[in-house]
Amino acid sequence: MSELTGSEPWKALQAHKQAVERTHMRDLFAGNPERAKQFSVQAADLWIDYSKNLITDETLNLLLDLAKSRDVEAKIRAMFAGERINTTENRPVLHTALRNRSDEAVLVDGQDVMPEIRNVLQRMASFSNLVRSGEWLGATGKPIKNVINIGIGGSDLGPVMAYEALKAYSDRSLTVRFVSNVDGTHFYEATQDLDPAETLFIVASKTFTTDETMTNAGTARRWVADALGESAIGHHFVAVSTNAEEVSKFGIDLENMFGFWDWVGGRYSLCSAIGLPVMVAIGPDNFNRMLDGFYAMDQHFKTADFEHNAPVIMALLGVWYTNFWDAQSEAILPYNQYLSRFAAYFQQANMESNGKSVTKDGQYVDYETGPVVWGKPGTNGQHAFYQLLHQGTKLVPADFIGFAKPHHSMGEHHHKLVANLLAQTQALAFGKTAEEARAEGIDEALIAHRTFHGNRPTNTILASELTPETFGQLVALYEHKIFVEGVIWGINSFDQWGVELGKALAKDAYGSIINHQTDPKNDSSTNSLLDKFFELEN
Ligand code: F6P
Repeated sequence: MSELTGSEPWKALQAHKQAVERTHMRDLFAGNPERAKQFSVQAADLWIDYSKNLITDETLNLLLDLAKSRDVEAKIRAMFAGERINTTENRPVLHTALRNRSDEAVLVDGQDVMPEIRNVLQRMASFSNLVRSGEWLGATGKPIKNVINIGIGGSDLGPVMAYEALKAYSDRSLTVRFVSNVDGTHFYEATQDLDPAETLFIVASKTFTTDETMTNAGTARRWVADALGESAIGHHFVAVSTNAEEVSKFGIDLENMFGFWDWVGGRYSLCSAIGLPVMVAIGPDNFNRMLDGFYAMDQHFKTADFEHNAPVIMALLGVWYTNFWDAQSEAILPYNQYLSRFAAYFQQANMESNGKSVTKDGQYVDYETGPVVWGKPGTNGQHAFYQLLHQGTKLVPADFIGFAKPHHSMGEHHHKLVANLLAQTQALAFGKTAEEARAEGIDEALIAHRTFHGNRPTNTILASELTPETFGQLVALYEHKIFVEGVIWGINSFDQWGVELGKALAKDAYGSIINHQTDPKNDSSTNSLLDKFFELEN
């Protein structure tokens, strides 16, 4: 038995789960008219109603005991203070410094990192203004009309998600695209209608060695050089990286490199220079508003007591379902088309962070860790996978995210959108009993099919409007939720060794493919697939 599963708070939660598992949310709400008020929290500009969860006062108290027993408070302080909490890589974890809007210093090895952060933000702003004003010229003297970000994982998902989320604030005269997949189709489709003379590439890679990104960057380089000559490269490429040496080797002037630091994890890097394509699209002022939003949620997380701390509460609910109700996945369901990539972004952020099976000191866990994270915007999802949420055999805790004001008032659209959000969380929580179905005159043969058990947990997050500020708050909310869960599970949420084996094997497989040879070291399946591939290739 591990320290966690053997702890008193854990055992108390196990016993409590048995005591409450037959309780229905219908009764919890009927028994307490104050329930919604009691289980809601204001965090910066976000209102989070978590009353439609399978919890009582006691559940929350026991979960808070668990957080205390895992030293969550001290761990939060350690992260903000720049302690080396990423132990397997011996690094601090300081994405919060990137959006520190105060005058407070943030020290890494006794050195304040804030002047350097502000300097890069300033350089990003100057560059963005040059591109946006048409002053940054391509090699033939034409202004830049198209910006293509080449990156993958954290160097792609954050910027593309934020660009989509804040499109309403973007300069529509610029075309901004993202290329990530090593599948050449991605590069082809992103460039086939563009003029190289008007196109600028941002090569975004923390390491500047990631195979997919370097392959796409090499293709982009040829695309520009073939059309405009080798000397054009400097006009059409900038880099975002921590690796100046490799950037220089690629032929990008270090003047046009925007740096960041090894204490920024890829999936937490949106507020660093990795956000450059977003800043180009929405402008430095809006980008700063986004940073303000992140900072507001950071402050909430750092200062609110745990009873009113939104990321802590959301994390504890996640642990409650993952570890005590055997939930395997969590859905993120934004009722906002601009947030179409939000769930995909947090799929990486959560699954790369908490998809671990050993603790920080290398012991195998005897409990579940990070869930499968997925989701799509409503209302589309309602006509696709919600059937399973309502009547399937799996418990899928879900977050619903909505906004009071639309960006585009078009008749009845927005009120219908919000009505759907509210209806779904009601249906999931309260369901429909057989008696209610009968009272509607439903044929007896169909009663079982037309009954909804309900009792399916949801959080509802509401804000006035999707602005750069509320967007930043939302992202930081989930980042900190992931952190707290990692602390409770005792894992390192900031490394990603799990991606390495596949990368190494892909190199060997690539060798086999280009040499047209199977490998005696391979298993029979892989070699027979290689043979089949060679046969089909001809
Ligand atoms: O796939 C692993 C990973 O290291 C991610 O964590 C990271 O976001 C991505 O690759 C891209 O890395 P880089 O920015 O170094 O190209």
